[in-house]
Amino acid sequence: MASDPKRPSLLAPSLLSADFAHLKDQVQAVERGGAGALHLDVMDGHFVPNLTIGPIVVRSVDRITPLPLDVHLMIEEPDRYLEDFKQAGADWISAHIETAAHLHRTVHRIREVGASPGVALNPATPLGTLDEILEDVDFVLLMSVNPGFGGQVFIPSILRKVASLCEVVSRRGLSTRIEVDGGVTPANAGDLIRSGADILVAGSAVFEKGDPAENVREILDRMRGAEKR
Ligand code: DX5
Ligand code: ZN
Repeated sequence: MASDPKRPSLLAPSLLSADFAHLKDQVQAVERGGAGALHLDVMDGHFVPNLTIGPIVVRSVDRITPLPLDVHLMIEEPDRYLEDFKQAGADWISAHIETAAHLHRTVHRIREVGASPGVALNPATPLGTLDEILEDVDFVLLMSVNPGFGGQVFIPSILRKVASLCEVVSRRGLSTRIEVDGGVTPANAGDLIRSGADILVAGSAVFEKGDPAENVREILDRMRGAEKR
């Protein structure tokens, strides 16, 4: 990805589980802990049942952090909002393969507006759907829960999916990064990195209890430990 060409693995805390009344404190805490990006979940009440944030909140977050903003669009008709999110400060934008009827156009539009394009896959969406688009994206976001809510339980079969995608990426000589989102905890972070993930998203494990900075450090420790093997 443009902002990080050397591919160290990154932790991207999901602000979905943050305390929005104290967003600046929460963002600064995860920065202290060593977060590599901030993950922002955009939900429209159609593709997923929940409603969350739009470009206005992304813009406010952009003003208070130097971290790259990783905007995960769980919305129908993502093309309508790409420019707005980029203008608001999005650095990476992913659209769901299940919603983008003209995915090639969407991905290229993300790059045209100046963001790094990614494609997101629900847990039951097969990797084969990526065949014709893998070369065009900078990252693939594999959902390890069904999208819509924070705090759900990790689906363990995603570890195999991560490993299979990692193999496809290296067989095709690509540098596509693999992001995993949903139910990430200190207990599964090492396995995810060993399976080939580059970016882990964690919401409730970072913000739900204790000190977010310390929670980030704990997950990063597990990630680093797995990288050394
Ligand atoms: C779920 C979102 C996730 C969510 C992760 O639809 O895409 O980013 O915030 O939250 P946890 O880590 O609690 O599963
Ligand atoms: Zn997400």
